[in-house]
Amino acid sequence: AKGGFPHFMLKEIFEQPEVLRNTMRGRLLTAEGNAKLAGLDTNIKELRNINRIIITACGTSYYAGMVGEYMIEDLAGVPVEVEYASEFRYRNPIIKPGTLVIAISQSGETADTLAALREAQQKGATALAICNGVGSTIARTSDGGVYLHAGPEIGVASTKAFTSQVTVLAMIALLLGRQRRLSFETGADIVKDLLELPDLVTETLKLSDSIAEIAKTLCKANNFLYLGRHFCYPVAMEGALKLKEISYIHAEGYPAAEMKHGPIALIDENMPVVVIAPKDSLFDKIISNIREIKARGGKVIAVTTEDCHPLDEIADHIITVPKTRPMLMPILACIPLQLLAYHIAVLRGNDVDQPRNLAKSVTVE
Ligand code: F6R
Repeated sequence: AKGGFPHFMLKEIFEQPEVLRNTMRGRLLTAEGNAKLAGLDTNIKELRNINRIIITACGTSYYAGMVGEYMIEDLAGVPVEVEYASEFRYRNPIIKPGTLVIAISQSGETADTLAALREAQQKGATALAICNGVGSTIARTSDGGVYLHAGPEIGVASTKAFTSQVTVLAMIALLLGRQRRLSFETGADIVKDLLELPDLVTETLKLSDSIAEIAKTLCKANNFLYLGRHFCYPVAMEGALKLKEISYIHAEGYPAAEMKHGPIALIDENMPVVVIAPKDSLFDKIISNIREIKARGGKVIAVTTEDCHPLDEIADHIITVPKTRPMLMPILACIPLQLLAYHIAVLRGNDVDQPRNLAKSVTVE
């Protein structure tokens, strides 16, 4: 059942090229520079007129939603908020005409996410779902939506569902963008970049052995910090969650520049800091964040792209992933963090697929 892999989690990490192909199959229109999502066909006219989006989810699905927020605002210019389902459902949220709610859930059975979706509908919003579980309660309750087609995810720590969710959100952002201000040319470029992703994920997975080596130097740490900016800020959050879940090491994700507003006090030679630092318009900013960490003796593990000088001279470990457009970098940048959490958990002798205290789907609140 594990296809020759020692754990479902590793199998699912390595399935990601195929998963992304399945998530995108038949949904990208190269000649039109657009996406076509059959599950949104009945909502397509309404989508043209919405003026606000609330994304609601829990855990890893919430972090995918954070990437979605940045992508949709960037491509479509529609304001987006992301809210924990457990908060949304109990705080009497404001839903006005023109507000669209999108619930994201791998299982489609998470109690809080289902309740948030129902709350939105009761307040008159159209509520879409992004789910993996076919025929799941959230999928059936929603007013439309998009399936991941990621196949069953058995490992409790979510991996392939995250990259698939971000891919679906990219396609939704593309579609909403093309209904509004996004040009054919940019749309066509995004389609091309999306279609190239599976091969780039295959490239990225080749890093597994070298990440296992890095894991050996880090597996005894008691605390980790994960930092990222812009599209890779949610990746920092997701990387920290993966480590907590399966290695039981305390980890926190932060927007890189927030570090100096508090967490920098934690940094010493025992504190590994994982920094997601692709070569993009914010590269110089993140380099100065990294210098601040090094000046305090912190150990820096940088996930970056080619031509990362001067990072190669500053960081203790460099993990180089292929480059894609910034909005799609989360899909490549999260993979080394999945692998790092995995290898550290294995070295610590933990039950990777069934970590303590966790269930695959949280059907009680
Ligand atoms: C993280 C993880 C959880 C889930 C969360 C939401 O690895 O597994 O944080 O992401 O419980 O689950 P779904 O997406 O099924 O609603």
